[in-house]
Amino acid sequence: MGFHSTRVLVLAATVLTVALVVSRIRRFLVRRQFARLHGCKPIVRRANKDPFFGLDRMYSFIQAAREHKALETARERHRALNYTFTSKQLLNSSILTSEPENIKTVLSINFKHYGLGHRLQQFEPLLGKGIFDTDGDHWAMSRALIRPNFTRDQVADLASFEHLIKDFFALIPRDGYTVVDLQSLFFRYTIDSATEFLFGQSVGSLRMTGSDLSFAEAFNYSQEAITTRGMLGQLHRFYSDPKADQSDRICREFAQQFVDEAVRIVQSEEKEDKNEGSETKRQKYIFSHELARRTSDKRRILDELMNVLLAGRDTTASMLSNMFFMLAKHPAVWSKLRREVASLEGRLPTYEELRNLKYLRCCMNESLRLHPVVPLNERKALQDTVLPVGGGKDGLSPVFVPKGTFVGYNIYAMHRRTDFYGPDADQFRPERWENGRLQPRWEYLPFNGGPRICVGQQYALTEVGYVTVRMAQEFQTLESRDPGPWEESLTLTLSSRNGTKVCVTPA
Ligand code: HEM
Repeated sequence: MGFHSTRVLVLAATVLTVALVVSRIRRFLVRRQFARLHGCKPIVRRANKDPFFGLDRMYSFIQAAREHKALETARERHRALNYTFTSKQLLNSSILTSEPENIKTVLSINFKHYGLGHRLQQFEPLLGKGIFDTDGDHWAMSRALIRPNFTRDQVADLASFEHLIKDFFALIPRDGYTVVDLQSLFFRYTIDSATEFLFGQSVGSLRMTGSDLSFAEAFNYSQEAITTRGMLGQLHRFYSDPKADQSDRICREFAQQFVDEAVRIVQSEEKEDKNEGSETKRQKYIFSHELARRTSDKRRILDELMNVLLAGRDTTASMLSNMFFMLAKHPAVWSKLRREVASLEGRLPTYEELRNLKYLRCCMNESLRLHPVVPLNERKALQDTVLPVGGGKDGLSPVFVPKGTFVGYNIYAMHRRTDFYGPDADQFRPERWENGRLQPRWEYLPFNGGPRICVGQQYALTEVGYVTVRMAQEFQTLESRDPGPWEESLTLTLSSRNGTKVCVTPA
């Protein structure tokens, strides 16, 4: 290389460096001005002693997860650090909060300032791109496709829940001493009901044994792989798991058949409508058919179905497992619930009757408060923005959030704050919800809030309520056979580590 070209290179490098430094200084000044304008003060509370890579926190997290106390440990930290603090993990610096005002700002007031598109790399192999793992226009279109499928009529269709209840009861020994793990049965019940609802045909896992469980098993494994990719973060690129690839393929190919069928049926319906000049009378409501009526893009339908299946299945199963764990530990609550259900005089409940069972609602609220099935969540700032509280020594000033910062919010910690729920916040006490004493607002958030609030909330509460009422009608006693207290199992959702081991006697 000649002298001349070296000089050109040195000059170019210098110009670039100066441009970079100038742009950084400009950004710093603009941000400082922005933060001042909003009265922001720095967050003084930090989770780490190691300010560079946050290795101490990573170590304590791994330790707590090993002891199945990750959530309790995090909750202690939230309490000690006044509910909003910073945390560093390797090169990522996040703001963590369990402050309702901050959560409301992220999810609702400044919704557009945040995104969750970073989730895609973790979920895409199973889900593709859909409502649960995209942002912006793609998400808005997904939401517009999905939301109309959760009207009252669809949510109130209790017949398919009842149909599966028979298979479910058939697997529960009723001699009062044989132990059954309700948790594993709830996971089978919800995959059956979700596939019935979405595909129009249940995978029938409650009726199968051992080797037949291929879709349900593949789906479980694919979800474990999602959790693993989530834990690995950027390192997931170097991780390969052929069994996960195979499971993703099994699930997607399985669902693909229903997509093809839905598109075929809807197209032939449309032809008939044209020929006869009138609307064909539609039979049973099927989610995949409704999607096919709104779009003929098969890839899109498949992705959305997988997204809703993932969002709806484990969440509902985990809620049932957590709630029955506590009901079995609290015989007085079980008896009170049975007394309320007795008002039906043994009949199957209608949708309205189900909604009017007040104590049932208290039990569901309380279960989701104490064991929120989505206990941790996060968003990434897509632009420079502000959180209303957490700054300064008293933690009362607004906080500047630079673009690219992760804001993690901890629902578990918030749901156990004694300043909101009183000194017995750790107790399972459904009565706290009686007589409208607690009006759920932003300090109670099991289903998220704002434009991305759970679309399946009513569907889930109907399913859990229905199963609970039918259990209360069918079984007189429900006794816990788990010697210890509830312990966390934290994967994509929060469930009981030891399952829900019970013995029952018939009514
Ligand atoms: C107890 C049961 C359930 C709980 C606690 C729950 C909770 C949640 C939460 C916290 C979110 C927000 C996730 C996020 O934005 O990061 C969410 C979103 C969602 N849920 Fe649920 N869910 C439940 C059941 C269901 C059911 C049964 C369905 C469907 C059949 C469903 C469909 C969805 C969908 C599609 C989203 C994404 C909404 C969007 O981003 O616009 N969920 N759910």
